[in-house]
Amino acid sequence: MPVMSAIESAFCRSAPWRSFARCAVLPWALDGHALHGDVLEIGGGSGAMAAGVAQAHPEVRLTVTDVDGAMVQFARTRLAAHRNVTVQVADVTALPFEDNTFDAVTSYLMLHHVIDWGSALAEVQRVLKPGGAFIGYDLTDTRLARWIHRADGSPHRLLTPGELEHALRALGFTGSTVRSAFSTHLMRFQARTPAEH
Ligand SMILES: C[S@@+](CC[C@H](N)C(=O)[O-])C[C@H]1O[C@@H](n2cnc3c(N)ncnc32)[C@H](O)[C@@H]1O
Repeated sequence: MPVMSAIESAFCRSAPWRSFARCAVLPWALDGHALHGDVLEIGGGSGAMAAGVAQAHPEVRLTVTDVDGAMVQFARTRLAAHRNVTVQVADVTALPFEDNTFDAVTSYLMLHHVIDWGSALAEVQRVLKPGGAFIGYDLTDTRLARWIHRADGSPHRLLTPGELEHALRALGFTGSTVRSAFSTHLMRFQARTPAEH
């Protein structure tokens, strides 16, 4: 079920993006957070960020998911050499995982493609272990982002940093930080589930 336009899908699978994402975007997005244990990536696309995680953290058990079967097939092929990675189709609004499964859930540039991002955040909270971390980055709701997505035709529902922070707090996440970057065009976020939830 593709949810992005053909142009955006092609960009996500392109070699320049995969290389830039792995080398530059991933360390910036993780912002010093050390991944460990069982990690879920939602909307993993071509597996660009996952390749970086698999290389930098071979001890992590990484599950990469995406709602688009073609993206999953592409990522599965690209990540086949990494024995610590599994790739599967999953809609973030109905994740096929038990409660309290993951030490961390990562989300890179994908939430704004999920129209019902409230349900997505609730699912992230459900599958995280107590004390688990939700980490990532996304576009923010700016005039430029709205214009690009309208022109490009991808379904989207952009969030403001305030909306994301409010939604995280309402779900019981603690210590959430949502910080604007690059002249407010992007936001990085980190939050934790309470030690008991
Ligand atoms: C802009 S791409 C980002 C891909 C990847 N995270 C990266 O940084 O290269 C957004 C991805 O989110 C996926 N996506 C959109 N809606 C989704 C949903 N409801 N559940 C899971 N994945 C979704 C799309 O299929 C697409 O691969």
